Amino acid sequence: MRALLKILVKFFQTFINRFKYKFDIPFDVEYINLPITYSCNARCVMCDIWKINKKDKEKLNSEITVPQLIEFFEKNKSRLKRLKNIGITGGEPSLKENLIELIRYLRKNYPKVRIGIQTHGLTPKKILPWISEIYEVYPNVGIGVSLDGMRESHEKMRGISKAFERTLETIRGVQEIGVKEITCGLTITKWNIDDILNVSNLCKDLNCEFSAFLAEEGDYFDNSGNTTTTFTKEQKNKIAKILENFKYHYYMDNTRLQLLGTRKREIDCYSGQTSFVLDAYGELKPCLILDESFGNVKSNSLEEILVSDKTIRRQRELKKCKKCFLQCEVGTSLMADFTDLTKWFFFHCDDQLGFLKTYLKKYNKKFFEEV
Ligand SMILES: C[S@@+](CC[C@H](N)C(=O)[O-])C[C@H]1O[C@@H](n2cnc3c(N)ncnc32)[C@H](O)[C@@H]1O
Ligand code: SF4
Ligand code: SF4
Repeated sequence: MRALLKILVKFFQTFINRFKYKFDIPFDVEYINLPITYSCNARCVMCDIWKINKKDKEKLNSEITVPQLIEFFEKNKSRLKRLKNIGITGGEPSLKENLIELIRYLRKNYPKVRIGIQTHGLTPKKILPWISEIYEVYPNVGIGVSLDGMRESHEKMRGISKAFERTLETIRGVQEIGVKEITCGLTITKWNIDDILNVSNLCKDLNCEFSAFLAEEGDYFDNSGNTTTTFTKEQKNKIAKILENFKYHYYMDNTRLQLLGTRKREIDCYSGQTSFVLDAYGELKPCLILDESFGNVKSNSLEEILVSDKTIRRQRELKKCKKCFLQCEVGTSLMADFTDLTKWFFFHCDDQLGFLKTYLKKYNKKFFEEV
């Protein structure tokens, strides 16, 4: 009943958001994705973020600090009054000095905002006390842990010895701390295709959410020309076959349909409209893929950045963009607008009952956040 009511509210919101989207009425900032540092102590094959601060030590010094972030949230409260979600990522966010101070500040000053943190989980001895401290301050924190495969493939993807054992230790430790919402994400490359189902089953055993997404090339991953993001026709077909097991899941099923060429990316993109990336240098960007900024929050207020002609012009242009299908960006578009979800459900979804069963049950409390 509660879920049905929320569905009705979501459709009403969709209607309003579509109207605003079509007639270029500005949106409020609802989602901020915060790659809080580019420092990273992994060596992943599909992401070159870990090289950024190693190549150029000065870059670390130009990263936005926690006090500067607190100042940003404090000064821009009126522009952030509809903020719903902050996704803290990296690099490796457990390496950010004093992150706990930001969590304390947000808990007190933005009590309704949901905070999610994404970690590689590869250093449990450091990460578990860190999450425990965060949990004390903010017990509703959602934790994402990357799990790219079983023993061999996870280690190969992450470039760290005993990566699998370490990540499992983190996941179990996070559960023991009491965190209720744990999601394991698997980035698909040619190295781990055969492990997608194994990891999905492991997540079921661990009682964690699971999602899989293709490795993409993008500004954020600093991985232009990285060959792990390209797939042969055979690999695409193989991945599509495996994703048949997730026909109830909007994101994974659309990834499958795109791999087969039977459905293009159709969802309208709300990145740069309702959702923004505030990167480790304070640049306010539309999304994680495009190498462009609306402005820097260290030197300008959010108000100044968002009302500027340049921003408004670019926001209008970006509405046509269909360049990527990056999961976190698609997720925020989906939260704003159910139109494509509805089209997919009626015209493409081969497991409608599975979709309804999974999501009505699961999201009775936490509605549709990871469709
Ligand atoms: C860049 S990481 C930062 C957080 C943390 N270091 C981690 O690995 O979970 C954020 C997410 O991006 C995923 N990722 C890494 N490289 C990617 C790529 N080339 N395309 C898509 N996702 C990628 C990671 O697996 C993780 O789920
Ligand atoms: S995916 Fe995460 S852990 Fe791997 S290099 Fe990128 S930021 Fe580091
Ligand atoms: S489609 Fe992808 S690249 Fe284009 S604006 Fe949206 S998130 Fe960015």
